[in-house]
Amino acid sequence: MLKNDLILRTLRGEQTERTPVWMMRQAGRYLPEYMVLREKYGFFERCQTPELACEITLQPIDIVGVDAAILFSDILVVPQAMGLEVQLVESKGPWLPDPVKTVNDLNRIRIPDVHESLGYVFDAIKLIKKELNNRVPLIGFAGAPWTLLCYMVQGKGSKTFDEAKAFCYTQPELAHQLLQMITDTTIAYLQEQVNAGADIVQLFDSWGGLLGPGDFENFSLQYIRQIVAAVKDKAPTIIFAKGAWQSLDAMAATGAHGLGIDWCIKPGTARQLAGDKVTLQGNFDPAKLLSPIPVIKQEVKDMLAAFGPGNHIANLGHGILPNVPVAHAKAFVDTVKEYRHA
Ligand code: CP3
Repeated sequence: MLKNDLILRTLRGEQTERTPVWMMRQAGRYLPEYMVLREKYGFFERCQTPELACEITLQPIDIVGVDAAILFSDILVVPQAMGLEVQLVESKGPWLPDPVKTVNDLNRIRIPDVHESLGYVFDAIKLIKKELNNRVPLIGFAGAPWTLLCYMVQGKGSKTFDEAKAFCYTQPELAHQLLQMITDTTIAYLQEQVNAGADIVQLFDSWGGLLGPGDFENFSLQYIRQIVAAVKDKAPTIIFAKGAWQSLDAMAATGAHGLGIDWCIKPGTARQLAGDKVTLQGNFDPAKLLSPIPVIKQEVKDMLAAFGPGNHIANLGHGILPNVPVAHAKAFVDTVKEYRHA
């Protein structure tokens, strides 16, 4: 039995003694202990070596005291498993030398056997579960099909992902074929993460907010819906579609247990759009963690009051930034843990 199951109870809609907290990208570059391993090993080497992935996953549990662990890996291991080369270039980010632009490119892509190509992830999960020893739940994750298409077509990071959008708008049949292949792979991948021991799964649709409501339904949500339907009865499921707040009602209707929101929407507005049942997760501005600690503490309390008791998991509205001092991350987490609703 889990010693700390606050997040699981919150996702089931139960009232808890306090609001649970974790941080997106909590295993990463703001931690000096992570930087030591980053010096020694390449990024995908860290992802593919269960002992390293396990050590990095546990760092924020021991150092910052969050209420959940999130698997150390990346959303881009799925395009890799589907046959695309993916590199992470220092200070540039993801780089895919042969992106998908044509039907011939699509023919190079396959729906892999996840046991063969992603077995190292399931091995990491099993090891993490053992080392966690039931202290906190483990969150598994995958990229949402739209966000993975963005990288698979654009070939690199972008503010607009204009080439990925042009691909969808000019070759919609190819786009839907690719999205369905990613969806089928992701369903098998997440189900196997749960079989290996993941207690919760989160779908990251980091670029969902680049699409208007109609295109979000067409190129993103209809695939997310398939994934949620295939996973939600095996483990509580959270959708984080950054910036896509216009579709919170439709995301709630998928039956997902949790919805992540960013800091550009008021908690009350998000609650009105999402309805009463679903748990909301968020939504502290990650850059606010650069403020002086007393300011962080006050703003965290304001955020908790705005969400109110129950059905809320405290988190950032996007990943923690590499230049955040560890003491500031701790102040965020400790303020949530000390807070009691009136
Ligand atoms: O949250 C965690 O601590 C778990 C691990 C995790 C990573 N990436 C590790 C990582 C998770 C959940 C992700 C998800 C991810 N990866 C997303 C969705 C969430 C988001 O931030 O929007 C996206 C879009 C990616 C793709 C990706 N991976 C990018 C754009 C980059 C480079 C930019 C950046 O932020 O550094 C990565 C690299 C990456 N993934 C790092 C980490 C810790 C940094 C690697 C390093 O330089 O050491």
